[in-house]
Amino acid sequence: METSLIILKPDAVQRGLIGRIISRFEDKGLQIVGAKIMRISPELAAQHYKDHIGKGFYDGLVRFMTSSPVVVLAVRGVGAIAICRKLMGATFGSKAEPGTIRGDFGVSNSFNLIHGSDGPESAERELALFFGPGEVIEWKRATEGWVYDLSGGKAE
Ligand code: RTP
Ligand code: MG
Repeated sequence: METSLIILKPDAVQRGLIGRIISRFEDKGLQIVGAKIMRISPELAAQHYKDHIGKGFYDGLVRFMTSSPVVVLAVRGVGAIAICRKLMGATFGSKAEPGTIRGDFGVSNSFNLIHGSDGPESAERELALFFGPGEVIEWKRATEGWVYDLSGGKAE
């Protein structure tokens, strides 16, 4: 099992898309194991986007991410990190394929609705930035055996 850090960015929250975007992950069969609404501080934005410091879009990105509340999610499943990235689509709505979150809900080349971890190391780092001890919950889904084939002893 993998867990990805997802952020519903300020534009998603302001546009009333929280429920519809979370539904994409639930509909797919991924499990929500952490969720909260919060305001990102400039310090936290800088830590989260440290790899982009110095790039032309960095200052605008931090302004955007701190401009209004976000919803952060911990999303779990087998291969969840790559599955989330596929569900999100290409970075900007103008390029993202229909059927993806960014492709269906946005057109902007700046506001792009959602963040998802891009690999296991960044997921671990980002989850620790946004969720404190006990805020990511281990819980048993009643439907687990219908979401995955568990008959062989592992989730297929
Ligand atoms: P994210 O990290 O937010 O999930 O998005 P991503 O992997 O698809 O894109 P990434 O290259 O990591 O860029 C992080 C965020 O920076 C903004 N950005 N703006 N104006 C630009 O050229 C530009 N490039 C990136 C976007 O908000 C992007 O999500
Ligand atoms: Mg990224």
